[in-house]
Amino acid sequence: MTITAIVGAQWGDEGKGRIVDYLAQRADMVIRFQGGDNAGHTVVNDRGTFRLHIVPSGIFNPATRCIVGPGTVVNPDTLLAEMAELAAAGIDLGNLWLSERAHLILPYHRLLDGLEESARGGSQIGTTGRGIGPAYADKSARAGVRLGDLLRPEYLRERLAGTLAQKNLTLAHFGRQPLALDDLLAQAEAWRHAIGGRIIDTLPLVRDAVRGGQDVLLEGQLGVMRDLDWGTYPFVTSSNPIAGGVCAGAGLPPSAVGRVVGVAKAYCTAVGAGPFPSELHDEVGVRLRTVGQEYGATTGRPRRCGWYDAVAISHGAWLNGLTGLAITKLDVLDGLAELKICTGYRLDGQIIDRVPDTPDMARVEPVYETWPGWQTATRDARAWADLPEAARAYLSRIAELAGVPLQYVSVGPEREQLIVM
Ligand code: GDP
Ligand code: IMO
Ligand code: MG
Repeated sequence: MTITAIVGAQWGDEGKGRIVDYLAQRADMVIRFQGGDNAGHTVVNDRGTFRLHIVPSGIFNPATRCIVGPGTVVNPDTLLAEMAELAAAGIDLGNLWLSERAHLILPYHRLLDGLEESARGGSQIGTTGRGIGPAYADKSARAGVRLGDLLRPEYLRERLAGTLAQKNLTLAHFGRQPLALDDLLAQAEAWRHAIGGRIIDTLPLVRDAVRGGQDVLLEGQLGVMRDLDWGTYPFVTSSNPIAGGVCAGAGLPPSAVGRVVGVAKAYCTAVGAGPFPSELHDEVGVRLRTVGQEYGATTGRPRRCGWYDAVAISHGAWLNGLTGLAITKLDVLDGLAELKICTGYRLDGQIIDRVPDTPDMARVEPVYETWPGWQTATRDARAWADLPEAARAYLSRIAELAGVPLQYVSVGPEREQLIVM
């Protein structure tokens, strides 16, 4: 039995969906444990190319139970749109289950995400605008409405009535029209018809899978550098993408998690604002964006690109307890004359090897070591020995700096473009 968490070891978009899709060919269960449709997990396999936002990336294996866990926030409208796209591509959705404890992203959450961002003026976070922050804020304030509430119309009315009065005051403050309770309830009724049958107590399923020794994958969203507690606060998301988020978010004891695979690109990207020490503003950065097609899967925004940051990975290796690394997009580096790895940050004349708190992180300067590039294409490599020597040296150094063994090397977006170590 293996319970494996697949987590982002950088700023998100590391290729988690791609790794989960590969591993899910043999998994009994895949659980999304945090985040919502701010995620954009791209999967390219024999069924086509898909951008998953809330549906777990195990959905392409009809035998895999896919669970949207209690720690997530769910917008039923975008979920339904995603389900329709998948169904149109012939994907079986019979094994998709939603936790009754997951929180609803309601129309006012998305409105407020946009309004609050505008109100931040020059210090915007650059959120995905999906209502993630406002929905988690309500959850913490105990003002949230949950998926399970859709199944209890009377209780839902009570919950919504209380919350909506407050939300309408806030909307009025922003000069917006109030939302009508009856409209929201009608929408909720439509959601109940469309997804009500999938809303369940997921705990017995998860417990039986763990006790029964099944293969379970925990699919993280985003990455450690945008973790609510350990990322570059306030330029973070409103949940915990680190492996510690798994237990509360999926309903597992910490002792159940056997493997934690950190997914990282062979370079770095970030969307949204906040410190990113190894960011490149030169032609190499442009090249990484062009060759790597670095545009957000959810918002289409150009991603900021930079050199591989070993300090950020060490931060994630500790916080996640990584047992293995999956390095993706190695092929994007093909043809570069030389590569740099950020091994430290210079702060006030000192070199540090840890991630300092955000105001200091914004001031650090990256310290680099330089590695020779390789001039041959790696996309057809399927074994370690197929890689150019310079690529092997670069990857070995990455693993050494992380103190974590390399388990997977991805050389293309397609399912089979993977070296399993
Ligand atoms: P996620 O959010 O962590 O699942 O990652 P995204 O899907 O947002 O971003 C990763 C992007 O890189 C997607 O477009 C993938 O199809 C693509 N990708 C993943 N692995 C590789 C790889 O090894 N090489 C190349 N060229 N593209 C990859
Ligand atoms: P996946 O799962 C990359 C970023 C946003 C912003 C910050 C907060 O595909 O890796 P939010 O909407 O969560 O309140 O935005 O987090 N962000 C992501 N960046 N990939 C994602 O998901 C992201 N989800 C949120 O750009 O900086
Ligand atoms: Mg993504």
